[in-house]
Amino acid sequence: MTLRLFIPADAGALAVGAEEVASALRAAAARQKVAVDVVRTGSRGLYWLEPMVEVQTATGRVAYGPVAASDAEGLLRAVLSDGAHALRQGLAEEIPWLKRQTRLTFARCGVVDPRSLEEYRAHDGCKGLERALALGPTATVEEVVQSGLRGRGGAGFPTGIKWRTVAQTPPQQKYIVCNADEGDSGTFADRMIMEGDPFVLIEGMAIAGIAVGATKGYVYIRSEYPHAAATMEAAIAAARRGGMLGNCIANSSYAFDMEVRVGAGAYVCGEETSLLDSLEGKRGLVRAKPPLPAHKGLFGRPTVINNVLSFASVPIIMDKGGAFYRDFGMGKSRGTMPIQLAGNIKYGGLFETAFGITLGELVDDVGGGTRGGRPVRAVQVGGPLGAYFPRALFDTPFDYEAFAARDGLIGHGGIVVFDDTVDMAKQARFAMEFCAIESCGKCTPCRVGSTRGVEVIDHIIRGENRAANTALLEDLCHTLKFGSLCALGGFTPYPVMSALTYFPEDFGAPPRLLAAE
Ligand SMILES: Cc1cc2nc3c(=O)[nH]c(=O)nc-3n(C[C@H](O)[C@H](O)[C@H](O)COP(=O)(O)O)c2cc1C
Ligand code: SF4
Repeated sequence: MTLRLFIPADAGALAVGAEEVASALRAAAARQKVAVDVVRTGSRGLYWLEPMVEVQTATGRVAYGPVAASDAEGLLRAVLSDGAHALRQGLAEEIPWLKRQTRLTFARCGVVDPRSLEEYRAHDGCKGLERALALGPTATVEEVVQSGLRGRGGAGFPTGIKWRTVAQTPPQQKYIVCNADEGDSGTFADRMIMEGDPFVLIEGMAIAGIAVGATKGYVYIRSEYPHAAATMEAAIAAARRGGMLGNCIANSSYAFDMEVRVGAGAYVCGEETSLLDSLEGKRGLVRAKPPLPAHKGLFGRPTVINNVLSFASVPIIMDKGGAFYRDFGMGKSRGTMPIQLAGNIKYGGLFETAFGITLGELVDDVGGGTRGGRPVRAVQVGGPLGAYFPRALFDTPFDYEAFAARDGLIGHGGIVVFDDTVDMAKQARFAMEFCAIESCGKCTPCRVGSTRGVEVIDHIIRGENRAANTALLEDLCHTLKFGSLCALGGFTPYPVMSALTYFPEDFGAPPRLLAAE
């Protein structure tokens, strides 16, 4: 009998020793004379349990974690007897943290071998592509419109409407570009998909190609993601061999192929027009809009540019129908969101759920509060341009409009948690400094204003002319917000002003009294 073990090769698991655990388990199996088949998967996203090893049993996959290489010998012995072990978590699918999620986009992540097209097909893969081929371009676009899917990269623009715009431009060379720059702090969902279920992204991009009449796609991956780039390369090669990409995809008359491009490491290259410049081999510089990329994008041609999660959500929409997807969520935020819990949090990881769950449920209940047990003081949602929310705003539902109404943003779905030792004046300075460092330099409010902003915050922190400098900072933020060409300069005021508004005592002013405190 061969024992099947599943061990993640996800970068997050590798960082805490998954490779050593895999080697140790293989060596232990050789010593105990047991035949093992080690399958390297992506991660299920329960990062506090990584490296999480799963063992195939008659009743399902039993999880153990966090496993160290030194646990290998004893763990294997336990698995070969009654399975009892201190690290045993029970059936993976039954772990409450996983069970309470609604995994539509992440259904296969951590389950399948990410490099095997056969496994992808065996787990419902390619069904969306087959339906798109059967429906044809116009009905495919309308299905995505019906689903209510909004871009998961940050701006939340309706994906179907973007596709319709490109589809309606006259026939010519068009492109599909996947934004896998994932620059937001505390986010890792794009990486997990590329490392754990790359075929779902390939399928989503191929469907986009059929829908808008594009034959070529690019995945622009940040250079800090070497594992994701390697897995994507391997999956693209397998997809070509398996007829999922090429001149006649899935034996149809449609052609679509794609390749990986690795960025050189700039936050602003995640901004779509800057990304297109970078893809064309230029320095990443934001382009003024219009023209929209949908009309004049890569190499001046009509281009669909979407985030990894947006494309990866399309196969299930096409498979189950737009109405199925639309049934999840609240208000204008339809479907599910892969939320990333990070920072000082007890149960950090990937939590996919329908829109509508509150911030408090996510941080206190799902996340279990801070790792060290100190009280949560602030969370930053939506990356470095997102607002800092105090506990008083924890009743905010995860919904684009609800966050915007409170001067916040969901962005790419990252939540970074801070305990009560955080200095919010330093965080405000950090946000402004981040803008100064990452500014592409094209427009003055951002290029000059961010550097002046750091100086003004420094004056406030040192207690110099506090009232006048605070008024100056507010004025500067107003200029940045309304005078910047892109959201890097335009949104930096959100973290800065939220820190100043909700945590004035950290800037030397009297504390603000908030309802829920
Ligand atoms: C400074 C800046 C950085 C951005 N970084 C990313 C990023 O890393 N990944 C991403 O998908 N979108 C990023 N965006 C948003 C993109 O410009 C664009 O809205 C997105 O790729 C569109 O895809 P979507 O509609 O699927 O979200 C960024 C925007 C700005 C202004
Ligand atoms: S806001 Fe900043 S990053 Fe955006 S275009 Fe202007 S200078 Fe460049």
